[in-house]
Amino acid sequence: MTASVEPHLFVILGGTGDLARRKLIPALYELLVDKGLTDQVAVVGVGRRDLTDEEYRAVVMESLAAAGIPEEQAARWCTGRLHYHSVGSDEGYMRLAERVKELDELHGLAGNRILYLALSPSAAEEAVSQLGSSGLASSEGTTKVVVEKPFGSDLASAQRLNEVVHRWFDEHNVYRIDHYLAKETVRNLLVFRFANALFERTWNRDHIESVEITVAEDLGVEGREAYYDEAGAVRDIVQNHLTQLLTVVAMEPPVDMEPDSIRNEKVKVLGSMASIDPGAVVFGQYTGSGEIPGYRELEDIPDDSTTPTYVAMRIAIDNWRWQGVPFYLRTGKRMPKRSTEIFIRYREVPVCLFHDDCAGHRNLLLIMLQPDEGFDLYFDVKAPGDEIDIQRIPLSVRYEDHLGALSSDDVSAGGN
Ligand code: BG6
Repeated sequence: MTASVEPHLFVILGGTGDLARRKLIPALYELLVDKGLTDQVAVVGVGRRDLTDEEYRAVVMESLAAAGIPEEQAARWCTGRLHYHSVGSDEGYMRLAERVKELDELHGLAGNRILYLALSPSAAEEAVSQLGSSGLASSEGTTKVVVEKPFGSDLASAQRLNEVVHRWFDEHNVYRIDHYLAKETVRNLLVFRFANALFERTWNRDHIESVEITVAEDLGVEGREAYYDEAGAVRDIVQNHLTQLLTVVAMEPPVDMEPDSIRNEKVKVLGSMASIDPGAVVFGQYTGSGEIPGYRELEDIPDDSTTPTYVAMRIAIDNWRWQGVPFYLRTGKRMPKRSTEIFIRYREVPVCLFHDDCAGHRNLLLIMLQPDEGFDLYFDVKAPGDEIDIQRIPLSVRYEDHLGALSSDDVSAGGN
């Protein structure tokens, strides 16, 4: 399929980093191939290392091969469309601005640029200032800036980064990225909630007792030790992916599906959140088991690191819909299995008709975001026999059975 988009230069700051090599460039390449846009976009990786275009292409070719992209196809694209620029020397960004103009002309890109900051939070502020003062924040075409999470490392640094970003870019050209929002199953949450009156009628404190949202990973930090030890589980997953899931589950219906309308409802949820009680937060760090080394045993992690690789917390949302309903958020690396899920526990039946003890007679809804994408609605039924023996059974729906298997892109590709 050929989509119609303006030609663009993709400028990836942190172009030699793990995120750019392993995720961004392969995902971008596949998207371009899929949409028939390989000739409309050129990419320049930017880093401190001194590399030629050829050396950089060799590095990227390895990543494309690891992502299963055929070598010949990838080589053709890299040779024609992929470049590298080092900002390691003085005036690195002024030279980058000149290079960007040259590449613009070479590929006929009409001054449209996406400046993608695949950098650690500590490097982002400086990079945005440098982009701005070297004239790269504006062009004859459109210039958009994409900032990867974590956005700052605490409230003060996030606010400061925001100020610096706004000094050079209009808000509508700023993208703070969260790849969870591109997952089919996450995008479906809005449809699930607002296209099915059955659930929406019961989606409140009168019917729901608690909500659990879990992002469990069986993987460890996978070669990203330097980044992860600075970030930890709270900045890596809680403030972005888990918070996005929380707001989609808890928000009021937006007035329409425009991004600002959805964003406004999400912000109201955050505004209603009570301060988190420190006594309702648990941190953990995984230790070794069998072949798998513990977090502190990893080569680039200090022996005394206190960075959490696990966190669980109870959150209260003090608004009319959710007052008194606890939301539990949890995430961890090196958990027994990978599972991203939302678990809704409905209230027990109000009157006990079948046994003296009605405890436990309640509906449960499990929304599996990944893997094994689907839904399980548990309800109580009478097991066959003379006695009233009540058993809980699931009504299960799997995407795969009805809509075809989701590709790995649908559940894990980048987005905003
Ligand atoms: C990233 C985190 O944002 O999300 C990683 O930096 C984490 O540490 C990843 O592994 C999880 O994403 P997914 O799509 O595999 O659930």
